[in-house]
Amino acid sequence: MAVRQDVVPGAETTEAQIAVHWKEEEYVYPPAKFIGQANLSDPAIAERFQEKNFPECFREYADMLTWDKYWHTTLDASNPPFWKWFVGGKLNACYNCVDRHLPKYKNKAALIFVPEPEDEPVAFITYQELYTRVNEVAAVLRDFCGLKTGDRVTIHMPMIPELPITMLACARLGIIHSVVFGGFSGEAAGLRAADSGSRVMIYADGYYRNGKIADHKASADIAVEHAEKEGQKIDKVLVWRRHRGQYLSAKPMVEGRDYFMDDILKDFRLRKVDPVSMDAEAPLFLMYTSGTTGKPKGCQHRTGGYLAYVTGTAKYYQDIHPEDVYWCMADIGWITGHSYIVYGPLALAGSSVIFEGVPTYPDAGRPWRIAEQLAVNIFHTSPTAIRMLRKTGPDEPKKYNYHFKHMTTVGEPIEPESWRWYHEVVGKREAAIVDTWWQTENGGFLCSTKPALDPMKPGSAGPPVLGIFPIIYDEQGKEVQAGSGRAGNICIRNPWPGIMQTVWKDDERFVKQYYTKYCKNRESKDWHDWPYFASDGAVLAPDGYYRILGRVDDVINVAGHRLGTKEIESACLTVPGVAEAAVVPVVDEIKGRMPVVYIALRPGVSDGKRVEQEIVTTLETMIGKIARPKAVHIVTDLPKTRSGKIMRRVLAAITNSMDTGDVTTLANPDVVDQIWQEVQGTGPVVKKEGPEDLKRFGEVE
Ligand code: PRX
Repeated sequence: MAVRQDVVPGAETTEAQIAVHWKEEEYVYPPAKFIGQANLSDPAIAERFQEKNFPECFREYADMLTWDKYWHTTLDASNPPFWKWFVGGKLNACYNCVDRHLPKYKNKAALIFVPEPEDEPVAFITYQELYTRVNEVAAVLRDFCGLKTGDRVTIHMPMIPELPITMLACARLGIIHSVVFGGFSGEAAGLRAADSGSRVMIYADGYYRNGKIADHKASADIAVEHAEKEGQKIDKVLVWRRHRGQYLSAKPMVEGRDYFMDDILKDFRLRKVDPVSMDAEAPLFLMYTSGTTGKPKGCQHRTGGYLAYVTGTAKYYQDIHPEDVYWCMADIGWITGHSYIVYGPLALAGSSVIFEGVPTYPDAGRPWRIAEQLAVNIFHTSPTAIRMLRKTGPDEPKKYNYHFKHMTTVGEPIEPESWRWYHEVVGKREAAIVDTWWQTENGGFLCSTKPALDPMKPGSAGPPVLGIFPIIYDEQGKEVQAGSGRAGNICIRNPWPGIMQTVWKDDERFVKQYYTKYCKNRESKDWHDWPYFASDGAVLAPDGYYRILGRVDDVINVAGHRLGTKEIESACLTVPGVAEAAVVPVVDEIKGRMPVVYIALRPGVSDGKRVEQEIVTTLETMIGKIARPKAVHIVTDLPKTRSGKIMRRVLAAITNSMDTGDVTTLANPDVVDQIWQEVQGTGPVVKKEGPEDLKRFGEVE
């Protein structure tokens, strides 16, 4: 039996105490040219955001917005962990992102749409045009659909400008939008629509991806069917056509339910809708994300605190000025897109690029051609995209004449080697880079360097952002000290304006998931007793820079996107013949992690090949292509504890050729050797130490 090499001897040693072998990288300093023009170049900011000035320091962010009524209480923390921000204040998010910029910027691009087909012209939508279109759509939502403040609408759309236009139209009326990533399946969208109680869904007919037209309307029919199965009737499906008057889908429109937006809008031309003055605490949107249970949870974000937080962080950390051309290559269907394509940049009167396609189509030079064509000077993407572009076109950036002053990475840890390519080749050593750590739940950044003030350190997210006070705890709730080289669970000690309000319709889940692990006194009314548990492992270097190791729960981060193992397993269990399923992450050179599925068949089932294929198609239809597993292994049995719990961690170790640790206490220890044989074709050989998140995979329930 293999013996762990990496654990300090002693049975009580927990994973959180594993020492992390990591060489801290040298600092890289931001260029003087960047510092000279940065929004945040005064070091006095650190003083203003010291803990002694919390929570009033966040007035600085809220004051960047236009309020209909100023707030009277910055933070009401009297009912932990249900924080209230800017209490008494009233504002409208759409007004802040559109109307208020008209006097100065009406003729400036708000959104710049880059279609995937390179011969289709780029579309520039000015603030005036955005204002006109958002008003018209708001009129459709209100007068054609009968929607009102507080109603929910599910928007399942690809990266076309009508997506942010629809979101802003909702925000104008105080309708809570729930955007589902366009790459998710119709079934996934339908379940989310049902959970949110949406009776209207908004779609596009199709879009271009990888040189082909994707039939997106087909998902709408499936979504409606699944929402209805869950007890939620969908009255209306509004369908944006990618090309006006031309229908890209093979699916017929359903009479009395489906409507083309371009047809309906004819009756609403130039209609104006007054923005509804919303309480700062009114929900702005829901964003569903995966957690430790099978059912995705609707993270509910508030209007005032969220908008203040993304505006402040976009200004100081993304360095957006109105004259910049800012391109975040994420999808608006994820939180990054909400905060840092739509709300943050538009609240600052920025020009935000929306790209429909994939970055490597038709070749890996496409992003750099776009950058040159539009004079993009702020670029924002994920380590997965960086790795992919580096692999497929390492020398492409040199061919194009663009200049980034600022670049961001988000969503996953970035290894120093990829960081250096990003800095030297993509950024031509001219850009300040921020590695931003945060989550769907958080609204905006939690750790990042201040681009003009802090040196960068490849592979480290950096210090906490302004007004955020993290702490790393071990499993026993003891603080893990800076410089100890030990990993632990990163928590945030204080509330902040961007944090979600609750899980939609599930306060209990909100408290349990994020606030009970390290809360010493559930009766306490003092926020100091309620640290936010992020479910990420982290190490703190002596200089105060955090290195994020990855999830400590059963969430797999595929290309920067979260998938719950239980979600995937539940889908696998619907395939006939499957008795048990376990899903674990495997290291993937490009995507960071991918799911690998282990299946035990029911007695008498022998057509394993059929099951394998059905697993793949089932995951694609129930969740989306993003959940496509790297491998499906049919095994005789799954490793289990004596109480019957499947030991995913053992499977994760085998999958990644890592040490399984002591398995003698399992109910079926023999199965471990069998699985090594079946999967790796060998006995238990430890090839590599493996990344920290895999050692800790599934540790926290
Ligand atoms: O594990 C962390 C990882 O992504 C998770 C959050 O995923 P999601 O809610 O989809 O939001 C992604 C974009 C905000 C985190 O729990 N993560 C995010 N950013 C980083 C990161 N890991 C390392 N470094 C980052 N910069």
